Amino acid sequence: MFKLDHKILGIAATVALSSTLVFGASSSPVGVYKIKNKTAIDGGVTYVRANGVETAYRYNEQSTKGVSFGRAATANEIKAWDIDALPDGTGLPAGSGSVEEGDELYEAQCASCHGDFGGGGNGYPQLAGGNQSKDKNGIVITLKNQRVYGNVDAPKRTVGTYWPVATTLFTYIRDAMPYATPKSLTNSETYAITAYLLAQNEITIDGVEMDDEYVLDAKKLSKVVLANRDGFYPNIDGPDAQENLRSFFADRAKNIGAGTRCMTNCKDPGGIDGKTEASVVEIKYEMSDVVPPYSTVRDLPPEIEDKTISKGEKMYNESCKLCHATDNMGAPAVGDVDAWVEVREKGFDKILYNSINGVGGMPAKGGNEDLLPSDVKLIVEYMIDLSKKKH
Ligand code: HEC
Ligand code: HEC
Repeated sequence: MFKLDHKILGIAATVALSSTLVFGASSSPVGVYKIKNKTAIDGGVTYVRANGVETAYRYNEQSTKGVSFGRAATANEIKAWDIDALPDGTGLPAGSGSVEEGDELYEAQCASCHGDFGGGGNGYPQLAGGNQSKDKNGIVITLKNQRVYGNVDAPKRTVGTYWPVATTLFTYIRDAMPYATPKSLTNSETYAITAYLLAQNEITIDGVEMDDEYVLDAKKLSKVVLANRDGFYPNIDGPDAQENLRSFFADRAKNIGAGTRCMTNCKDPGGIDGKTEASVVEIKYEMSDVVPPYSTVRDLPPEIEDKTISKGEKMYNESCKLCHATDNMGAPAVGDVDAWVEVREKGFDKILYNSINGVGGMPAKGGNEDLLPSDVKLIVEYMIDLSKKKH
């Protein structure tokens, strides 16, 4: 259902992988103009800003005259946004939670999609258990050392095998999960769930195994070293990041090859003679034309609260539309008469039961625990009503 295997984390990975970005730039739509650019160290494009600074993103030079940007953000508003955490733990909030607490929260709020013990299933990402493959000496095969064990299948990419730093796990869960109600967890709950998932991935902290009583906080989380920590290269972590990146790309003969990018059977680091498979390939097709991202014309109709909207529709919009607007998520799309004819064959009671308790990729109550069974009933009635043949 989801194509998650290519989740890209970290700038280095982006640099290395973005060579597949091919832009159909042959026909230029009106309003598109060529950007001034020069080639970056990785073969991509950098954009020169007025003050001599180069950036990987184009700076929009369109006039902003006539555009209402609202007011300046207040210091507190900026603080509320500024919540990232660095690999060394800088920026992590206070709070703590145990593996056991995380277990309970996980069961209640995550397992419906991510499976028991983070084992996946239902088409949602697997969060643990990717490190099951070990070599004959008991060494866990990670994405990094798998290059050395070229004949071994890549490990399943999970938080434990693939992600470079554990602080990302905390911030990701805090900001994006549970899927339907992101930002609903407290910091301590987030620490607890993070602890639970790290424990499921058999992560040790300072050599200590994470048992049920293990309590995770900012300090301990920042000490976690994940298996794939140094599996991304060039190393873009820490104060030497810029220099690492520069020297990596500067040694083109060694690091840039003509081959295909690879996950298995890669030469390490590849491309020494420029013929063998290289792990990093120069970016060949960069964006060269850019459609200005905003229009100075403001013709959106003002938003008016719609009083005619039913309670069912309102709750549907809030909790279910995310997945049911289209069939992209594998859910019967609202309005798709045929899909719902099939659903309705089960009978209303069964459908309602499934909506309240979950079925397949459908999480219980759509993942919104706050809904009452009577709410779900109203929503399902609304959904069915919209998905009947109109006469
Ligand atoms: C309604 C289904 C659903 C629920 C419930 C849910 N998730 Fe997710 N989760 C997803 C989907 C879908 C993605 C992929 C999102 C994407 O890649 O944009 C995801 C991605 C993730 C990832 C990233 C995995 C990876 O390897 O990229 C983590 C970690 C995660 N979820 C943790 C949690 C936690 C912890 C909870 C409970 C607090 C939770 N999720 C609840 C659907 C869900
Ligand atoms: C995270 C995505 C997601 C969300 C959010 C979601 N659904 Fe679903 N829903 C699904 C998927 C996937 C299916 C198909 C399940 C299957 O048949 O395997 C489904 C199926 C259903 C069905 C058909 C059940 C059956 O027995 O065939 C109903 C009814 C339904 N959802 C109602 C709702 C309601 C009501 C909400 C909001 C409270 C909601 N859904 C929110 C993903 C979602």
